[in-house]
Amino acid sequence: MINEETNRNLSAIMVIFGGTGDLTHRKLMPALYNLVYDGLLPENFAVVAIGRKNKTDRQYRDEVLDSINKYSRNKLDVCCWERLRDIIYYLQFDFTDQEGYEKLKNFLKELDEKYNTGGNRVFYLAVAPEYFELIVQGLSEHKLAHQDGAWTRLVIEKPFGRDLNTARRLNNKLNEVFDESSIYRIDHYLGKEMIQNIMVLRFCNTVFESLWSNKYIDNVQISLCEKNGVGTRGGYYENSGAMRDMVQNHILQILSMVAMEPPVNLKTESIRTEKLKVIQAIENFTDEKLRNNVVFGQYGRGIIDGQPVVAYREEENIPPKSTTETFVALKLHINNFRWAGTPFYIRTGKRMAKTSSEIVIQFKDLPDILYFKEGHVQVPNLLVIRIQPNVGVFFQFNTKDFSTYNDIVSTKMDTSYYNPTAGNTPEAYERLIYDILRGDATLFSRWDEVEASWIFADKIIEYRTNKKFDFPNYYAGSMGPAKAFELLAVSGRKWWEV
Ligand code: BG6
Repeated sequence: MINEETNRNLSAIMVIFGGTGDLTHRKLMPALYNLVYDGLLPENFAVVAIGRKNKTDRQYRDEVLDSINKYSRNKLDVCCWERLRDIIYYLQFDFTDQEGYEKLKNFLKELDEKYNTGGNRVFYLAVAPEYFELIVQGLSEHKLAHQDGAWTRLVIEKPFGRDLNTARRLNNKLNEVFDESSIYRIDHYLGKEMIQNIMVLRFCNTVFESLWSNKYIDNVQISLCEKNGVGTRGGYYENSGAMRDMVQNHILQILSMVAMEPPVNLKTESIRTEKLKVIQAIENFTDEKLRNNVVFGQYGRGIIDGQPVVAYREEENIPPKSTTETFVALKLHINNFRWAGTPFYIRTGKRMAKTSSEIVIQFKDLPDILYFKEGHVQVPNLLVIRIQPNVGVFFQFNTKDFSTYNDIVSTKMDTSYYNPTAGNTPEAYERLIYDILRGDATLFSRWDEVEASWIFADKIIEYRTNKKFDFPNYYAGSMGPAKAFELLAVSGRKWWEV
């Protein structure tokens, strides 16, 4: 439960552009409901969902109820639902229609009085990226972007640009209206429990932090694998591909949390500054490195969960000769004192054999002198941070086999539990919405992090665009193209599936 003072600071109206969209129904509304359920939504609060279709508040509220029934992690509690239902409003207007913004302005004033929300606003852009600039301009022209004595926050979903230039342009446009401290760029992976846990694991455990460097770590593997194909999102995905969809944002954010130096304190900017330094320290990919250390893939037909599935090129809205990658594996180095020489392997793909997001830290082998000479194969220490669907930590170490003379067995300690809903979790959005209301931007990407990520990603995307690949090159239901295995095998390593 939040106290009176917190309630005052959090009071706001949340305006959702894209109120009838998939994200709002699957994630945002269930997240708001769960915040009510957990007593975390402030008393003085209201939601205005904006959409183009014509519907009444009542119709819209009924649709939201359906979504909550389908997607909420807590089941329906009538009191909680009624509390949320009564503060949700639907407003119809087209984002290009200037009168709509005036209508919105008047309506927000009315709600401010009714709910005593003090002029505080969250503008959540849950719309296709081509509307970002247009909406921000509309907010600015109709004097909705700033209220005297109140705060306004702009929340923006990915993709933030489609390369460095478009991202810079978008950022400049946003900055004409909102300053950096009021822009919340969502990367929903940062809202996931185990991603937040990386800092606690590292900075609250002597055993891990003292070994967290190139002296003791052989390599780090970050894998975000999905069984899902592109589904109905072909139109978006075809222009994006795995690099833009997963690597430029989620993977680089995770990488920066795994590799960053301890921040001087837990303040937002201290943490973001350390994360930025990691992305900036990623090695430059020369032509030779692009050839040897980057693997692209695109799925062909295959079997998922016993059912045949079509190839990427046969999916809805995908051209039959598409060259878009649905899989990427990369080997990269972080050129700083802590990590020089330790490879980081990253891998992400659609239509893979399993849905699983994990970080594997493989520690170095010990010298083959005592137990590990002749006959005993050394199994390395592994620390696995399981993000989803299993959530928790796995640690592998060696002990003596109880029943034999000197045999060594690899012992596995697993604190993780299976959470079937830990995909694109509502929990992530709950945490993120709550942080937006609190004004805590730690779990959101700062502009210079986004900029540095595009500088890295652009080079690799350019290589993919200019080179001809023999696609499809992996079966749906496999763990990616053969080359992704060779990437590690050349140095005697392998992807760990634990
Ligand atoms: C999104 C991508 O950002 O993340 C999707 O656009 C992807 O393509 C999704 O499926 C994965 O998120 P999660 O939380 O389900 O692992």
